[in-house]
Amino acid sequence: MDWNIHQSPISRSDAVNNLAIPPWRPEGLPAKIVAVSNFKGGTSKTTTTAHLAMSAALDGYKVLVIDLDSQGSLTSIMGGDVPDEWSTAFPLLAKDYAQTVQAENTVRAAAGQAPLPFDETLTEALKVSARDIIQPTHWPNIDLLGAQLNLYWAEFQIPVWRMGLRSWSLWDALNNALTEERIVDDYDIIFLDTPPALGYLTINALAAADILLVPLGASFLEFDSTGRFFDMLYSTFASVEDGENAVRRRDGLPEVKFEWDAVRALITRFDAGQQTDLANVIQAYFGDFMTTYRQELTAMVGQAGESVNGIYEADYRDFNRETYVRGRETFDRTWAEVKELILGTWYRDQQAAKAEQSSSAPQEEQADG
Ligand SMILES: Nc1ncnc2c1ncn2[C@@H]1O[C@H](COP(=O)(O)OP(=O)(O)OP(=O)(O)O)[C@@H](O)[C@H]1O
Ligand SMILES: [Mg+2]
Repeated sequence: MDWNIHQSPISRSDAVNNLAIPPWRPEGLPAKIVAVSNFKGGTSKTTTTAHLAMSAALDGYKVLVIDLDSQGSLTSIMGGDVPDEWSTAFPLLAKDYAQTVQAENTVRAAAGQAPLPFDETLTEALKVSARDIIQPTHWPNIDLLGAQLNLYWAEFQIPVWRMGLRSWSLWDALNNALTEERIVDDYDIIFLDTPPALGYLTINALAAADILLVPLGASFLEFDSTGRFFDMLYSTFASVEDGENAVRRRDGLPEVKFEWDAVRALITRFDAGQQTDLANVIQAYFGDFMTTYRQELTAMVGQAGESVNGIYEADYRDFNRETYVRGRETFDRTWAEVKELILGTWYRDQQAAKAEQSSSAPQEEQADG
């Protein structure tokens, strides 16, 4: 067996960066956004997000991680410094609302109506750019938009804003921030870690995502709860679509439809000795909506030490060989499968973009061929 891991992950990542052949991604297409979500707590959302980000970075991808959980666990793992809500996603959401209110107030002024209130928070938010609050981490090609406790305030503020202006698409605020400020052009892959709730922050993450990963443990309670999570997800987005499309039909606009490139449930903290039967039932239930690899329970997670977070930062000498190899393998294989999904959807997007180009410029295409 190979036992050849003497360098720190950071120097390996630098080595990858210096390779002549960077990992594949189609040119000119935006970053893929992957949300990791489940309203059940403790299903390994944060652990999975952190390890996927590190795996992708080791492959040479430029990665942004966004922590939408006010518990800030992912922020701690990535060593983020987040003094208050102004260094979280909060101002980006506020800015999206502020811009919508500004547009509305222009219309109101023209009609001689009173403007909607525009408080100091909104004025401040307009000055914030996503690039000012995204921070580098100790991983050379991972940047972070962090979280801390005050981000939870967004869960109260968002519905209040929406009551003030019903036409504000509250679920689209994060997506707008990432696309309008061209953050999706600065990175290859963006990972979103969400809180254990189907609140407004999670809805923003899901609406922005191209790929949705739903981690769950192979226990009856987590299986049961995850089934309900999918039901709620469906009904939440169906009701958003219904409401939005009623307005759009009235205004003669094209209808919206929420779609992901891919949705996958992923078994985590798997113990083959105890959970194989139930995992097989879960696998049969989810079918193609489930990854084939089960992320195993490993002693290496959560025990790596003070300044070391996760398997890719762990020193193999601190563990017995079998534990280390299995731990590495479980997260390497999780990434391998997610990477395949990402590459597949990029490839599909690339083909679609080419088809669109050739249909809009048939003569050029002929000259090329
Ligand atoms: N593969 C694994 N092996 C062993 N322990 C794990 C594994 N994955 C996660 N854990 C542990 O399970 C616990 C919950 O994991 P994590 O914090 O990632 O879940 P979460 O879904 O993000 O939780 P929350 O809902 O609170 O955000 C943590 O103590 C973590 O260290
Ligand atoms: Mg978490």
